Amino acid sequence: MSRLLVCPPDFFGIEYEINPWMRLSNRVDHARAVAQWQTLMGIFEKDLGVVLERLSPVPGLPDLVFTANAGLVVGRTAVVSRFRYPERQREETHVEQWFREQGYEVVRIEAGLHFEGAGDLLGFSDTWFGGYRQRSDIGVYPILSERFHREIIPLELVDSRFYHLDTCFCPLSGGEILYYPAAFDRYGRQVIAERIPDELRFAVPDEEAITFACNAVCVGKHVVLPAGCPTTQVWLHNRGHVTHPVLLDEFIKSGGAAKCLTLALD
Ligand code: ARG
Repeated sequence: MSRLLVCPPDFFGIEYEINPWMRLSNRVDHARAVAQWQTLMGIFEKDLGVVLERLSPVPGLPDLVFTANAGLVVGRTAVVSRFRYPERQREETHVEQWFREQGYEVVRIEAGLHFEGAGDLLGFSDTWFGGYRQRSDIGVYPILSERFHREIIPLELVDSRFYHLDTCFCPLSGGEILYYPAAFDRYGRQVIAERIPDELRFAVPDEEAITFACNAVCVGKHVVLPAGCPTTQVWLHNRGHVTHPVLLDEFIKSGGAAKCLTLALD
């Protein structure tokens, strides 16, 4: 059974601009955002049998909905994020308190190093991939690698639209990945190609990359992904996955979609 941490969008909105998707002039339609979030949660709970843990929303923290960035959870240990931008740093104490209340052993990264949690660190059971440069710093990965005894392969993110690894890279349960090659440099693309065999890699086309095709959540053979990614869905079907497209355009205004709205708790 999967458990995911989520945060209702009561105070979600565009209140600052910290990535190229966010425009203060592009206001969120609150009712629509709430409806889209509810639909997404319904798929997790009713269709996939996922257990949802809810973090209380906080006024003035519009991006708290993106719980992928709360931190990284490994067993009963939680590494709390250290956000790059001051606008999101106030989320840290709120999240840390939640982890403590739930009985997690809380790990804090030293001040001065940035780490944006499961938004940038994802992978398979033994090998993880760590996105860096836009938000997280490469220097956190040797520390986390040693702490959790996992190999972490750093991947530089070179396109500001794909500022977290989970916007351009998605590991799936069959050992496959969805990814957007242009978000990585040549070295990164080469490392990915060496690690993941050709037939297990799907390079999403430009128009689906900007529809956040890679920002998908995989639960067993099910893949929950933003609506509007038909070729990605066909590839997933051919690999035996069941797809669940959800309209999430209100969240894409902030640069996030399905995966950003969840944090895996196990
Ligand atoms: N507006 C948020 C930010 O720029 C979106 C975060 C999306 N989260 C993610 N895991 N990609 O920080």
